[in-house]
Amino acid sequence: MQHVDLKEIRKGLHVGKKVTVCGWVRTSRDSKNVAFAELNDGTELAHTQVVFDKSKFTGELAPMLSLGAALSVTGEVVEGQREGTYEIQAESAELLGGSDSTYPLQKKRHTMEFLRTIPHLRVRTNTFNAVFRVRSELSYAIHEFFHKNGYYYVHSPIITGSDCEGAGEVFKVTTVGFDPTVKTEEEYNKKDFFGRSAGLTVSGQLEGEVMATALGKIYTFGPTFRAENSNTPRHAAEFWQVEPEVAFADIDDIIGIATDMIKYITTYVLEHCAAELKFFEERFEPGLIAKLQNVADSDFARIDYTDAIEVLKKSGKQFVYPVEWGLDLQTEHERYLTDEYFKKPVFVVNYPRKIKSFYMKQNPDGVTVAATDLLVPGVGEIIGCSEREADYDKLLNEIKSRGMKLSDYENYLDLRKFGSVPHSGFGLGLERMLMYVTGMANIRDVIEFARTKDDLK
Ligand code: 4AD
Ligand code: MG
Repeated sequence: MQHVDLKEIRKGLHVGKKVTVCGWVRTSRDSKNVAFAELNDGTELAHTQVVFDKSKFTGELAPMLSLGAALSVTGEVVEGQREGTYEIQAESAELLGGSDSTYPLQKKRHTMEFLRTIPHLRVRTNTFNAVFRVRSELSYAIHEFFHKNGYYYVHSPIITGSDCEGAGEVFKVTTVGFDPTVKTEEEYNKKDFFGRSAGLTVSGQLEGEVMATALGKIYTFGPTFRAENSNTPRHAAEFWQVEPEVAFADIDDIIGIATDMIKYITTYVLEHCAAELKFFEERFEPGLIAKLQNVADSDFARIDYTDAIEVLKKSGKQFVYPVEWGLDLQTEHERYLTDEYFKKPVFVVNYPRKIKSFYMKQNPDGVTVAATDLLVPGVGEIIGCSEREADYDKLLNEIKSRGMKLSDYENYLDLRKFGSVPHSGFGLGLERMLMYVTGMANIRDVIEFARTKDDLK
């Protein structure tokens, strides 16, 4: 259909010209001689006003003013009353798709909980329109950062036979239903599609390491899945991860890369999503823009896990979960470090080996690994990062001592047999980053079709 995007109208170059625009009616008003409809076509956050002069406009007006209706309007572009706004003086209009009073998004402001029940329509609200525009720009910025820095974009498989994180959160992939004749798990797996057990990937890292030990610098960017049994505002069963993997890089190198990437994509969003960020600042998080500007401009903090435990112990806070060297940091501990102690993003480095994944490089002390999480105020962990264990024997022992199935990791071990190199990588959760950038407090509100425990629409 020949039409002009509403975003183009706002550039002011069409004044005095006759154009056709399309969009959905967001609000409308009817008075004696004139009626107004605010149109949005998804190209920008702002709406464009269409003016129906009843003395000139012929045709049935009422359906054109119904909230949610889709219209195509032809008319002259004139300057609006507020500076920088433009209106369309409708000469003719076509109802592309009507709507009626049962349309759930009537004028009142809806709760986020209600909007979650209509994932197919909520993207037509200002909030979700803005969220998904930022999600798109953020994703583009990630690709741009890696492309500009010489990384190859590789595609890791979604169906895998290994559990990268070893946390037992793999969703099973199977075509075999209940069969009372099957006696053992082995027998069951043999009958299955791949002749073995298979699952949805929790991370593209292990395959990413394969690619990095040939292509040098790579990143994956795709969906990952975790059957996480926790019902929190930060966990989804399906989420997107960006996972760079870099050969000839140690833990300090990869921390530098993660920092550069976060700063780059934050700056990009500040530059390209100004209207959306202003909206989020007004509606969801006062001070959001200054916070992001600060991320772009200033250094991140860095603290050893061991020192972080001391900071928590000396905080005088009554935490629900115990603070003890060797235990993982809980959300409340992370929140204290980011929101109260550092008040900015912080890399917590050198975690105890026992609470982290098998593939992380063991430090000379024998009890910690060269791993770091990037924690940010309000959200907590957004990046999990480490140097990988490059020593064959150490890695083999770790796999064995954790009771992992050796045959699933033989190829991975081979990388340490043939031309092993120091290498490092990290995983950024796209939705967590998006929560941080938009101030949205719940991960269900930054994925249009959120999959969480007991919830799939
Ligand atoms: O810390 P994680 O588990 O690290 C890995 O998966 C590594 N293999 C990454 C790597 O080194 N290539 O997960 C990485 C990030 C987390 O920091 C978090 O942002 C996000 O993925 N994440 C989740 N996001 C939403 N819902 C969940 N259930 C998530 N689990 C992890
Ligand atoms: Mg992690």
